[in-house]
Amino acid sequence: MEIVLPRCVVRSFSPADAPSIARHANNRAIWINVRDQFPFPYALKDAERFIRDAAGTEPQTDFAIAVDRAAVGAVGLRLKKDIWRRSAEIGYWLGQEFWGRGIATEAVRAVTGYAFNHYDVCRVYAGAYEWNLASMRVLEKAGYTREARLRKAATKDGRTIDLVLYAVVR
Ligand SMILES: CC(C)(COP(=O)(O)OP(=O)(O)OC[C@H]1O[C@@H](n2cnc3c(N)ncnc32)[C@H](O)[C@@H]1OP(=O)(O)O)[C@@H](O)C(=O)NCCC(=O)NCCS
Repeated sequence: MEIVLPRCVVRSFSPADAPSIARHANNRAIWINVRDQFPFPYALKDAERFIRDAAGTEPQTDFAIAVDRAAVGAVGLRLKKDIWRRSAEIGYWLGQEFWGRGIATEAVRAVTGYAFNHYDVCRVYAGAYEWNLASMRVLEKAGYTREARLRKAATKDGRTIDLVLYAVVR
């Protein structure tokens, strides 16, 4: 998979991406905004395992965000099951040195379109931690609507916090 965008390329991972992914992912400012299953510190072996799992998942749902050919972030979909089977959750992170250039917005918009075009999905959603105004802005710019504030829904870094739920439907 490869989607060429003005500021980045969203593409399948390759094993050669592991060192770059590990370098950019090893950042507390990223970890504080994602699930606890995202390691910190983030080692080369963590990147290698993540890329191996991404390659082994069918259909493919985890993609690299590449700038100048280097994988500097990731964007992924989680296809839901059972009664939620037409929903997908989107998650993403970008290396801090690339923040503020519109890259995540572009990648999230593109992968949301990819979800609608490639899977039987009619809803894509994300939950941002209450302090993550940048991610809320990304979702708004990518066409998502703020649907709810899920009070005390997540516990991160010792704090129990609200999740702000955004979704787009087609
Ligand atoms: C969230 C993240 C992906 C944004 O990436 P990015 O490429 O910098 O995003 P963009 O440049 O496309 O857009 C960021 C927007 O947030 C705004 N923003 C940034 N920090 C902000 C803050 N503290 N308060 C309010 N808005 C903020 C920017 O001004 C920009 O909006 P604008 O275009 O209207 O000016 C990146 O910061 C990141 O990887 N964070 C850690 C992981 C994460 O939060 N993942 C999402 C979990 S839900």
